[in-house]
Amino acid sequence: MKKVGVAILGLGVVGGGTYKTLTEHREFYKQIHGIDIAVESVLERNVERALSLGIEKSKITQSIDDVCANSEVNIVVEVLGGIEPAKTFVLAALNSGKSVVTSNKELYCKYGHELEKAAKLNGCGLYYEATCVGGVPIIRTLLDNLQGNKINSLMGIINGTTNYILTKMTDCGVSYNEALKEAQSLGYAEANPTADVEGFDAVYKLSILSSISFHTKVPYTKIHREGITKIDAVDLQYGKRLGYVLKLLAIGKNTADGIEVRVHPAFIKSAHPLAGVNDSYNAVYISGDCVENVMLYGRGAGALPTASAIVGDVIYCATHNNFNYSTFENTENADPATKFVTDFKSAYYIRLKAQDKAGVLSKVTSVLSKHNISVAQVIQENGRSDGAVPIILVTHETYENNVQNAVAEINSDGGFASVSAVIRVC
Ligand code: HSE
Repeated sequence: MKKVGVAILGLGVVGGGTYKTLTEHREFYKQIHGIDIAVESVLERNVERALSLGIEKSKITQSIDDVCANSEVNIVVEVLGGIEPAKTFVLAALNSGKSVVTSNKELYCKYGHELEKAAKLNGCGLYYEATCVGGVPIIRTLLDNLQGNKINSLMGIINGTTNYILTKMTDCGVSYNEALKEAQSLGYAEANPTADVEGFDAVYKLSILSSISFHTKVPYTKIHREGITKIDAVDLQYGKRLGYVLKLLAIGKNTADGIEVRVHPAFIKSAHPLAGVNDSYNAVYISGDCVENVMLYGRGAGALPTASAIVGDVIYCATHNNFNYSTFENTENADPATKFVTDFKSAYYIRLKAQDKAGVLSKVTSVLSKHNISVAQVIQENGRSDGAVPIILVTHETYENNVQNAVAEINSDGGFASVSAVIRVC
């Protein structure tokens, strides 16, 4: 029987889940796949933690050189996260002829071009299913199942922490800060939640997914990014009345004008399949020219869901003789021939605080109309004691720049109204 030796770099939550999956399923993989996958080495500073998982002392190391020199090791699994030392270790593994499986989205997003170059030079495999959407098999679906399609667009909820927070705000009416605290107490959000709540995590994933989908490098720096920290719970309640649900969406489109990539909060119709993706669950909705629409749904994080993606890559690597690389020139920057859309089209939800006087609504709509913005829906609440009323407008589709210009004009034009919130509507 073919033997495959694995090294795991890092025994945190995901590394521990990967070790557990590989060891507990070893006999199953022998029976089903005809390969004996053994964990031959783990690189972990916390020896006690490694021993507590039942790993033999002789297999624990703190040196990447030991891993690279170990002839029993064929595949190195990198689950350290962050850029360094992960980058140095992955390059060392590839340069010593070992294939690499990584879950490190930031590393693959920022340095995938360097890693792939080293993999090609050394005739090794480089697999990264676990970088995007945890246990949801999105990357292999795009590479190995939907490859007959021209992918027109993908739209996803690809960050579980923010989806948990927005779900709590929507269902329980709590503020962003209260929902964040709950997400932290449950271990979804980190003590420093910036990467998740400001959209960086989703941007790294969207860069990887849109590059694969559109067959050209989509650097993360090209992605418009907005997080959820400024969302006011009142807008989720108005959205509900209008038939919308708020999600942090990652959107990639291949349009006639170029590639459009953005991560921001957006309202979607409550009947859309993504609207029912709640709590920490993730989903990606893909449109291909042949298949029409496909949605993949599941756990985007967690020890065993992420281990599912990693071990899938290990088995794939162990059972395929030819390694596949990117379908495009994997460079640091975008191909100069690739166009990117900067002024994209969307419908908009706009909440204003307006003076409760004759003619104010018409002043607002006349500014909007001056900027080619047509109103589709309006809610005006009863007046308040301070004489201000909330007005909620939903526009027809228009350009982002039109809306930004109209908002600036309303906010600077004599105080008849001020804009409190602008949320895109998909
Ligand atoms: N922090 C991520 C999330 C999981 O909340 O979805 C790992 O990508």
